[in-house]
Amino acid sequence: MLAVNAIDVSYGESPILTGLSLAVGEGQVVCVMGRNGVGKTTLLRTIMGLLAPRRGTIVFDGHEIDRLTPYERARRGIGYVPQGREIFPSLSVRENLVLGARRKRPPPESLDYVLSLFPALSQMLGKRGGDLSGGQQQQLAIARALISDPKLLLLDEPTEGIQPSIVEEIAAVLERIKGERTRSILLVEQYLEFARAICDRFYVMEKGSVALEGDRGAFRVDEVSQFLSV
Ligand SMILES: Nc1ncnc2c1ncn2[C@@H]1O[C@H](COP(=O)(O)OP(=O)(O)OP(=O)(O)O)[C@@H](O)[C@H]1O
Ligand SMILES: [Mg+2]
Repeated sequence: MLAVNAIDVSYGESPILTGLSLAVGEGQVVCVMGRNGVGKTTLLRTIMGLLAPRRGTIVFDGHEIDRLTPYERARRGIGYVPQGREIFPSLSVRENLVLGARRKRPPPESLDYVLSLFPALSQMLGKRGGDLSGGQQQQLAIARALISDPKLLLLDEPTEGIQPSIVEEIAAVLERIKGERTRSILLVEQYLEFARAICDRFYVMEKGSVALEGDRGAFRVDEVSQFLSV
C-alpha cells in the first residue's frame, strides 16, 4: 500500500535521509524508531509531500505520488498527524475537526465516527483548541486526521509528552483502528513498549537509513534501545 524506495532527502546541503526504503502493507501498523534528529519527521513530511526527495520514489496504492502536492496526497487517502499536534489554538474543537475533512461539511457519520473513538471530545466541541490539555490536543489531532477517512495514517510521536492515562486511550484507539483492517498506520514512536504492543513490523533508523527492521516477533526492546541510546 505504501512503498518508499531508496529516497534521499536533504535540507539545503545537509543530507538527512540517504537511500531509505520502507514498506507498509494493507491494514498493517508499521513503527519507525530512531534517535532524536535521525530524520523520522523528515520521512513523514516527505511521504506527505511537504519535502521532495532528491532521489528515489514513493508509491502509494499502486501509483507513484512523487509529483503530487500534499493536498492531492491527502485526497488520495493519506492522513497526517504532525509531531507537536499543530492544532489551531484559537479555533474550536469542532472547527479544528471540520478543517480535517476533505469536504466543507464532513458527513455526520464521519464526525460520529471520530467522536465514538474519542468520546471525551464530544463534550468539548465548543471549547477552544488551545484550552485543551496536551493529551486532549493529541486526540483532537488524530481525530482531525481520521475525519477524512484516510487509507494510510501517518502519526508522528503521538505519545510525546502525554499523560499515561491518555497514552492508554490513544493505544486503545489505534488497536481499534487496526482491528477494523481498513487503514494502515505508519507510526513514529520513541516509547518502545507502546510500539512493540501495536506494530506488525518495525524499522529502526540510524544515519539517515534503516539500521534494523523486522516483523513483530523479532522486536526486542533491549536490541532496539541500543540504537536509541546516545
Ligand atoms: N527545516 C529544517 N531545516 C534544516 N534542518 C532541519 C530542518 N528540520 C529538521 N532539520 C534537521 O534535520 C535532521 C532530522 O530532523 P527530524 O526532525 O526529521 O528528526 P527526528 O528524527 O524527527 O527527530 P526527533 O526525534 O527530535 O523528532 C535534524 O538534524 C534536524 O536538525
Ligand atoms: Mg521528529
